[in-house]
Amino acid sequence: MNAKIVLIPGDGIGPEIVGEAKKVLEHVAARFGHTFSFTEIDMGGCSIDKYGEPLTDENLEIAKNSDAILLGAVGGNTTTSPWYKLEPKLRPEAGLLKIRKALQLFANLRPAYLYPELASACPLRPDIAEKGFDLVIVRELTGGLYYGDRWTREIDGVTTAVDTLIYSEPEIRRVAVKAFEIAMKRNKNLISVDKANVLDTSRLWRKVVAEVGREYPEVKLTNMLVDSCSMQLVHDPSQFDVVVTENTFGDILSDEASEISGSMGMLSSASLNESKLGLYEPAHGSAPEIAGLNIANPLATILSAAMLLRYSLDLDKEADAIEEAVRQVLRDGVRTPDIWSEGCTKVGTKEMGQEIIRRI
Ligand code: IPM
Ligand code: MG
Repeated sequence: MNAKIVLIPGDGIGPEIVGEAKKVLEHVAARFGHTFSFTEIDMGGCSIDKYGEPLTDENLEIAKNSDAILLGAVGGNTTTSPWYKLEPKLRPEAGLLKIRKALQLFANLRPAYLYPELASACPLRPDIAEKGFDLVIVRELTGGLYYGDRWTREIDGVTTAVDTLIYSEPEIRRVAVKAFEIAMKRNKNLISVDKANVLDTSRLWRKVVAEVGREYPEVKLTNMLVDSCSMQLVHDPSQFDVVVTENTFGDILSDEASEISGSMGMLSSASLNESKLGLYEPAHGSAPEIAGLNIANPLATILSAAMLLRYSLDLDKEADAIEEAVRQVLRDGVRTPDIWSEGCTKVGTKEMGQEIIRRI
C-alpha cells in the first residue's frame, strides 16, 4: 500500500519520540512491502517561533490532504516559556485545538491498561492492581467547554469570566455511535459518564446515548456520574471496558486512567473523524525538562503509530507486529528510565527505538 503520512514532531521531546516512531514505520513498510511517504509540518511552539502562530493554514492543508497524522507533543513550560505570554489563541495548544476542529476529529480514543511487566509501577493498592485492567476512554473532542464562547469582562466593576458548555444532539450521537461500535469489538460493556444530576448538557447526553443504545442491544449500557467515575477508577478499574464522555470530563478522566497504569510513557491515543483520516499521539505531554537528553520513552508514540496503521490504513497485521514487539521488549526487561526497575536494562530513546525494530 502507498500512504501519505504527515509527521508533527512539535515541541520538547516531540522530535525525539516521533523520530523513533518514524524509523519503526519505515521498518514496517520495508518488512511488509508498503511505501510510506512522510511530510513534516510544524505545530505548537516551534511554529510560533517560525511563523508567529501555532499552526498555519498552509500546514493545516498539508495535514488535511494526508492519509494519517502522527503527532509528538506541543507546548512548553507554562510558567517560564515566552509562548505563554501570548494571547490564548496564539499559544501552542491552540494549534492542537485548531487541527482537531478543522479535521472534525470528534472521537478521541484513549486506551489505558496495566502491562503485567509494569504492575510494580502502578500506584494502586496491590490487591486492586492485581486484578489488572484494560479500558478505553472515548472522549468527545470537538465540542463542549473547549469550543464554546468565552469572555472576560468587567461587570459593575467586578471582573467576570464566562466559558460556555454547549452540546447539540448530533454531536453527542456521532461520538456515542463510535463508542458503541468500539464496545461491540471489545467486551460489550459501555459506561457513559456525565453530570446529569446538575447539567442540562449531561441530561441531553444521557438521553441521546440511551437512544443510540437501542441500536446496540448486545452492549450493556450503564450511566455513571463523573465524580463517581473518578472514584471508581481508583477503587476498581477492572470494572471498565469502554467509557464514553464529553470533552472536559474525558480530559480529566483520561489523565487519571493513564496515571493508574503507572506508565504515562506507554499510552497511545487516536483522534478520529467520519473518514479514515486520524491524528495519533502519545497521551503524555512535551516534557520540556527532559528534551534532547535521549531519555524520553518513545513507546507511547510507537504504539500510536500502531494505532495509525490499524485505524487509518487498515494494516492490522503490521499494527499487531509493533504491539507484539513492545510486549516483547518489556518481557526482555528493556526499559527507558521512566519505567526502569531493579534488574532491568536501562536504555535511551534511540536505543529503545532500535530494540523495537529488532523485534519486528
Ligand atoms: C489533552 C491535553 C489538551 C486538552 C491540552 C494540551 C489543550 O491536555 O490532549 O488531553 O486539554 O485536550
Ligand atoms: Mg489532557
